[in-house]
Amino acid sequence: MTTHAPAGHAPVHHRDPSALAPEHVRRITPYLPGKPIGELAREFGLKEADIVKLASNENPRGPSPAVRAAIAKATEELCRYPDGNGFELKAALAARYRVAEDQIVLGNGSNDILELVTQAFLQPGDQAVYSRHAFAVYPLATRARGGVCVEVAALDLGHDLPSMHRAITPKTRIVFVANPNNPTGTWLPAAALEAFIASVPEDTLVVLDEAYNEYLRPEQEAPSAEWVQKYPNLIVSRTFSKAYGLAALRVGYGIMHPKVADMLNRVRQPFNVNSLAQAAAVAALADTAYVAESRALNDEGMRQITEALAADGVGFVPSHGNFLLVKVGDGGRVYQRLLEQGVIVRPVANYALPEYLRVTIGLPDENRRFLAALKVALAG
Ligand SMILES: Cc1ncc(COP(=O)(O)O)c(C=O)c1O
Repeated sequence: MTTHAPAGHAPVHHRDPSALAPEHVRRITPYLPGKPIGELAREFGLKEADIVKLASNENPRGPSPAVRAAIAKATEELCRYPDGNGFELKAALAARYRVAEDQIVLGNGSNDILELVTQAFLQPGDQAVYSRHAFAVYPLATRARGGVCVEVAALDLGHDLPSMHRAITPKTRIVFVANPNNPTGTWLPAAALEAFIASVPEDTLVVLDEAYNEYLRPEQEAPSAEWVQKYPNLIVSRTFSKAYGLAALRVGYGIMHPKVADMLNRVRQPFNVNSLAQAAAVAALADTAYVAESRALNDEGMRQITEALAADGVGFVPSHGNFLLVKVGDGGRVYQRLLEQGVIVRPVANYALPEYLRVTIGLPDENRRFLAALKVALAG
């Protein structure tokens, strides 16, 4: 029942309207994003230019000049809907990975691919298996469909594939594997990963999330697109948000069996990837030198940070991504002390890692700012 409120005020509900949502939606714990720079500036009265954000595993260089030019060009057609079929981008991806265009689904970020898989394939009561400390969207997307989360204990903070295999039951529709994993930075070699995929029953989908693939050394990369041709239940997801520096535009993709792609396309919004994102992604994919430079910069920054931490006796988890878990003791307290100094990192207590903070590898100066601020934070 609703009573009339004065003009300009929200109506007063006697009953909590959230009770109208299904139980499985009400039980969702919302995603906690990294704190935006503008928010910290407002909270602490800091200048935005003085703030360092190393909280969301972004490429600190941003997109390449060729990509910026492609975006500028695409702004000439802002009155038009994007190509809902993403023809050019799919053609470029298909050529790159030697798959057919109907094996690719584009997403509003790879997050969209994860959502679409659960939307198309999970029914209430179906199970999804994933590792503890794995990317937070797996349980979110599973719960949103009324699916049952089966979280498997980690091994040295990484995926324990034999235990994950044992967790699969006839009710398991999806297994999520992040390689490398966020936030732990752990990585599974191709041989172990393929043996696992081959061992998963055909009626369970495997989502292999390779959001950080471009940060691996070439010899570490799994031939996952080739695996898609061998394993019809495998979906590989990738993104332009990380090494390609396009997080703001939201564009990712999945590679999969055409019949799986068909199911995802049935539940996908018709125009889920905007035209600036599509143009940018086509240009970014072609600019292989820029990605290689970004990887080299990340390697250098990783070395800069890990060497300094080791010299100071601060623990960390060796990482294969563009981020690092640093062992700080009381993560919440050290996070606050870093914020006070204008440095935003990511607390990971929600990943059952309360003693750690996750820091994204930044530009050399940003890394220095972080290291200096961490010294102060840990001393206090
Ligand atoms: C492991 C992993 N997968 C997927 C994503 C989703 O990224 P996006 O939607 O920007 O592609 C992220 C983002 O942090 C991630 O860490």
